[in-house]
Amino acid sequence: MSTYTEDKDKRKVTTRRLIEMKQRGEKIAMLTAYDYSMAKLIDGAGMDVILVGDSASNVMAGNITTLPMTLDQMIYHGKSVMRAVTRALVVVDMPFGTYQGNSKEALSSAIRIMKETHADCIKLEGGAEVRESIERILTAGIPVMGHLGLTPQSINKFGSYTVRAREEAEANKLIEDAKLLQEIGCFALVLEKIPAELAAKVAKMLDIPVIGIGAGNGCDGQVLVMHDMLGINKGFSPRFLRRYADLGTIINDAVAKYVDDVKTGDFPNEKEQY
Ligand code: KIV
Repeated sequence: MSTYTEDKDKRKVTTRRLIEMKQRGEKIAMLTAYDYSMAKLIDGAGMDVILVGDSASNVMAGNITTLPMTLDQMIYHGKSVMRAVTRALVVVDMPFGTYQGNSKEALSSAIRIMKETHADCIKLEGGAEVRESIERILTAGIPVMGHLGLTPQSINKFGSYTVRAREEAEANKLIEDAKLLQEIGCFALVLEKIPAELAAKVAKMLDIPVIGIGAGNGCDGQVLVMHDMLGINKGFSPRFLRRYADLGTIINDAVAKYVDDVKTGDFPNEKEQY
């Protein structure tokens, strides 16, 4: 029995192809990766889009928020992922402080990401307030993915990670921002942790693909953080998260067995030496 993944088109995924996927109603699968080995596995499994997310700050570096991530760190992760990937479209997050409030700095940050990582495009958070930065980045021919709803780089303004845009005023602003991002040239949009009905409405309204995380099934695709969905990061279990594996337990058991084998002298055996 062949799976959907085995039958999948092996051609490189491009921004154009994502828009075509939306047009024919094919859902887009997106997952984060931050290092060579995992990116190779994820790309090989048929992922459409790999996000080198600034969630690396949480799951790779152990920070509470995404704010401490630097441009150099994102470039390091981007380069590691790009050495592995042959098919998926690779998006690198612009970290906090590299694009807000100064569009010239935004352009030079985006150029550094593209030149040094060889990634396909960048993602940044926000709507009207980062319009100038997005427009300037686009003038350099760098494709931009937007991100609205719960934008983790603004966590200090929000004060919590609860669902965004439940209130009419915030929902209306999100709709206006989504339209703006499409109008100025973003090729896709991430909607994070907003009511499913609102996300579906935005996805229907826009021609560009809308990728949801905690935004329901009406989006054109879904994104998750790899450590969460594989059960490596077990301290995080929001309602929207589906766990596809319990690697945390598998790794813990394997490592504990190795410790035991070393302590008891069972490892290495005669066949495992020269
Ligand atoms: O950094 C990240 O992993 C993200 C996803 C949550 C969309 O931006």
